[in-house]
Amino acid sequence: MSPRLRHLSTLQNLPRETIERLLDRAEALRDACAHGTRKLEILKGRTVLNLFFEPSTRTRTSFELAARRLGADVVNFDLGFSSTSKGEELFDTLHTLEAMHLDAIIVRHKESGTPDELVRHAMSGVSVINAGDGNRAHPTQGLLDALTIRQHRPDFENLTVVICGDIQHSRVARSDIHALTALGVKEIRLCGPTTLMPAAEEFPAVQLFDDFDQAIAGADAAIMLRLQKERMASIDLPDEVAYFNRYGLDKRRLALAAKGCLVMHPGPINRGIEIASDVADGAQSRILEQVGNGVFIRMAVLNEVLAR
Ligand code: CP
Repeated sequence: MSPRLRHLSTLQNLPRETIERLLDRAEALRDACAHGTRKLEILKGRTVLNLFFEPSTRTRTSFELAARRLGADVVNFDLGFSSTSKGEELFDTLHTLEAMHLDAIIVRHKESGTPDELVRHAMSGVSVINAGDGNRAHPTQGLLDALTIRQHRPDFENLTVVICGDIQHSRVARSDIHALTALGVKEIRLCGPTTLMPAAEEFPAVQLFDDFDQAIAGADAAIMLRLQKERMASIDLPDEVAYFNRYGLDKRRLALAAKGCLVMHPGPINRGIEIASDVADGAQSRILEQVGNGVFIRMAVLNEVLAR
């Protein structure tokens, strides 16, 4: 059996067995808490800190719900009202909060590598979970995307998955690729403007496309990404209408995919830029299922790192 995780920083190099254990546990905890209507006591007496240095709706809320549904106490660090604005450095903030007793820190930060830095500096016994660092990793998003696909298409070895949009700045794309590769997905395709694509050597096993019509042809799942302008210094981009025409998912393009192609997006979505409203809200959309699965995946990860 693969060893229990003490921290979760990235899905890169995690064994398939560990990923499957987390997906299985997410479904078991979903059933045990009756889809969120029953509170469990698995983490009673444990304290979890949400330490978000970047905005979040889905990840922060679902980590809080996940911790509470497992019986833990939750503290939400409020960046806007914190002493970070008075110049306090990250590790001073860390040690200050640790002095109040914590069991887990969930961190989101614009700098890639911050969760690993916190692992190195955190007190022994404190687990660190990455809630998104720079463009490097968003492991719980990768897990919830894999769970959502598995619930509809457990036959990973037959699947073609296309990820389209701003791949270069996307920690979600990286974690999705790591998860789906470990789970044995047959073919992963990346599509986007050349200025927003990763170097070919970063993912030698995936196929790179510039033409979305070609990339989506026959795909079983399409994961759409927003343009992450907050991570772009200056990039030559087409205007939003031209971008949608080339890389947006509309009904015509969805018809090129395999029948029943899963439409996915990590959110927040920008309607009319990377996805048409009638596709985002359409019968094939799994976007809100992804959000729901996020709570159960985060319960599974908290249970994994904090279980005694
Ligand atoms: N998918 C995602 O990370 O969303 P938030 O930024 O709202 O947490």
